[in-house]
Amino acid sequence: MDYFFAPMEGVTGALYRRIHHKYFPGVDAYYMPFLTPTRDRMFTPRDLRETAPEHNLGFRAVPQLLTRDSGDFCWAANALFDMGYDEVNLNLGCPSGTVVAKGKGAGLLSDLSALEALLDGIFAGVQGPVSVKTRLGLESPEEFGPLLELLSRYPISLLIVHPRVRKDFYREPVRRNDFALAHQNYPGPLCYNGGLFTPEDCEALLRDYPRVQSLMLGQGLLRNPALIRQANGGPPPTAEELKAFHDELYHSYLEAFRSGRNTIFHMKELWSYLGTLFEGSEKLLKQIRKAQDTARYESAVEQIFRTLPIRWELPET
Ligand SMILES: Cc1cc2nc3c(=O)[nH]c(=O)nc-3n(C[C@H](O)[C@H](O)[C@H](O)COP(=O)(O)O)c2cc1C
Repeated sequence: MDYFFAPMEGVTGALYRRIHHKYFPGVDAYYMPFLTPTRDRMFTPRDLRETAPEHNLGFRAVPQLLTRDSGDFCWAANALFDMGYDEVNLNLGCPSGTVVAKGKGAGLLSDLSALEALLDGIFAGVQGPVSVKTRLGLESPEEFGPLLELLSRYPISLLIVHPRVRKDFYREPVRRNDFALAHQNYPGPLCYNGGLFTPEDCEALLRDYPRVQSLMLGQGLLRNPALIRQANGGPPPTAEELKAFHDELYHSYLEAFRSGRNTIFHMKELWSYLGTLFEGSEKLLKQIRKAQDTARYESAVEQIFRTLPIRWELPET
């Protein structure tokens, strides 16, 4: 069984991946937040930083591309293969309004002829394995049948299904039962993604869908960075481990951004996940959310690690 870290724009960048791997090794691949290939066929300095092999050393990383143009996909994917990557992923799930309005990400799910033209162009011009990460459809899970039928016609190296439709964003419950269609009918390698927060969730998913070869975890891993270790039979994280992981991440962001404000902004998003791992964290999390300077931030974080026990049950949402 392979366990993958889901791509999470703004959170799981190169720095996060490197430090997560150092403290919690065992992730079979980190899928990178999407890059958007530009018309002038050059990577931006930020894209180059994110994909530079020296920033992704010691673990497998898979770049993801967000585009509706097969020419743009092929030049970027082929450049990434030349850099040594062994798989490139196509994003068919991004629900953001501006992305969908341009017919990219989940926007492609409402236009199967545009998707067909994109996939025809990709598989005619690409020089390495291409995986796809998709939702069930744009508006309704009934769109999933024709979408799967189309995807089944291409040599996709791995189909990652996040069983929500675009209009669910990340708010609505995952439509786990609708994954059954892919499990029954999709002929190629299949990965499930969505709503797995505990080792028991992973076990239950694999019991229901035994043909699945890999699981992709996102918010569950941000909450509990040792989730994959536990799913593989290892121990839960200790407060010391979490603190060491947090501290290195925090100091690395401070150094990289040269800005306390930017660093705290980044760390606040992380705490919206990590914070739910601590019993009775509400008051200190509020202090973190309100913190405007590093002193206040550090004081709240220090108290969380020193005083609060880790809890395993998930909070009510
Ligand atoms: C803040 C955030 C950023 C995300 N960025 C991406 C992205 O760049 N590419 C992508 O395919 N999915 C992205 N996703 C979706 C996740 O990869 C994943 O599919 C989703 O969170 C459901 O899985 P989970 O329940 O395990 O978190 C993002 C989700 C969140 C919450």
